[in-house]
Amino acid sequence: MPVLAGWRLRAWWGLAGGAVLLALWLLWPPRPAPGETLAPQPTLTILIWHWPFTDRPPDLPSDTCTHFGVTNCCLTANRSLLARADVVVFHHRELQMRWARLPLDRRPWGQPWVWASLESPSHTHGLGRLGGIFNWVLSYRRDSDIFVPYGHLEPRTGPPPPPLPAKSGVAAWVVSNFQEQQRRAQLYRQLARHLRVDVFGRAIGRPLCANCLLPTVARYRFYLAFENSQHRDYITEKLWRNALVAGTVPVVLGPPRANYEAFVPPDAFVHVDDFGSTRQLAAFLAGMNETRYQRFFAWRDRLRVRLFSDWRERFCAICARYPHLPRRQVYEDLEGWFQA
Ligand SMILES: *[C@@H]1O[C@H](CO)[C@@H](O)[C@H](O)[C@H]1NC(C)=O
Ligand SMILES: *[C@@H]1O[C@H](CO)[C@@H](O)[C@H](O)[C@H]1NC(C)=O
Repeated sequence: MPVLAGWRLRAWWGLAGGAVLLALWLLWPPRPAPGETLAPQPTLTILIWHWPFTDRPPDLPSDTCTHFGVTNCCLTANRSLLARADVVVFHHRELQMRWARLPLDRRPWGQPWVWASLESPSHTHGLGRLGGIFNWVLSYRRDSDIFVPYGHLEPRTGPPPPPLPAKSGVAAWVVSNFQEQQRRAQLYRQLARHLRVDVFGRAIGRPLCANCLLPTVARYRFYLAFENSQHRDYITEKLWRNALVAGTVPVVLGPPRANYEAFVPPDAFVHVDDFGSTRQLAAFLAGMNETRYQRFFAWRDRLRVRLFSDWRERFCAICARYPHLPRRQVYEDLEGWFQA
């Protein structure tokens, strides 16, 4: 009897185990969706031809990208690896200044090249001679192959947001490069006729140290997040960091309101175009009551700002996007694309 019972038990366990194995085999590995292939991921080598804004690239240990949640991705600044690199990245500033030259004569056949820049078209020159070379673009433009915004809002998890900093002033502006012909300078001059705006920054001899900017502007209800030039999707750390992270309300000058609303909730900012005149804008800012003011921060209960400011993270994003990037694409008219 015990023998039989033991045999039955084993058979039952065998069946159950078989069913479990069958289920695992059916469910795992996950089936690729139609049109998608699921091949093991080889490690990609991304060669950065010239590190942005410096002759001294950071250390790039092999696990650099895993810190940014990207696996199988190796960043290198070693030009000897040109022939072996899966992708080569060229940052525009160094091409524009002719500190770096394209190794066109040594380019392996079919090697994808990336044009990378976070500057606006107003501050980008020399694109005319770069047509027909690059396969992919890395920029702040949403229609880039590798889209790298200055920041974004992500769902908030964990503890509720910290309380807003106490306010003692109405409006602040930080400007390091003041040029009268810029729209932001003209708008500031008009606004300052009707409203007290406290100005900081190198341009007026009141520079703020790196760690002083946020606590300084946080004491104001509004921050003038005026972009140096107005272009589609060109929304920089002036909005993300100086205003939203600081805990003040951005008054934005940049692309149209609808463009901002693709990035942040409509009630999170004041757009200068919302008003018929700067006098009306000034009256709105100065006459703000506390109830109305708090509404600008409704998003903080469910969202939080994530800043992207590390070039390593931006370059690692190439690997994350790699399987989806269009093959055999060439920007024949890079200037036309970027200036559009
Ligand atoms: C660059 O790569 C080459 C080829 O792998 C290697 O011999 C060389 O040591 C590397 N240089 C540096 C500075 O890592
Ligand atoms: C605050 O301002 C809003 C908008 O201007 C207005 O509708 C509301 O009545 C004001 N509330 C108080 C308490 O003054």
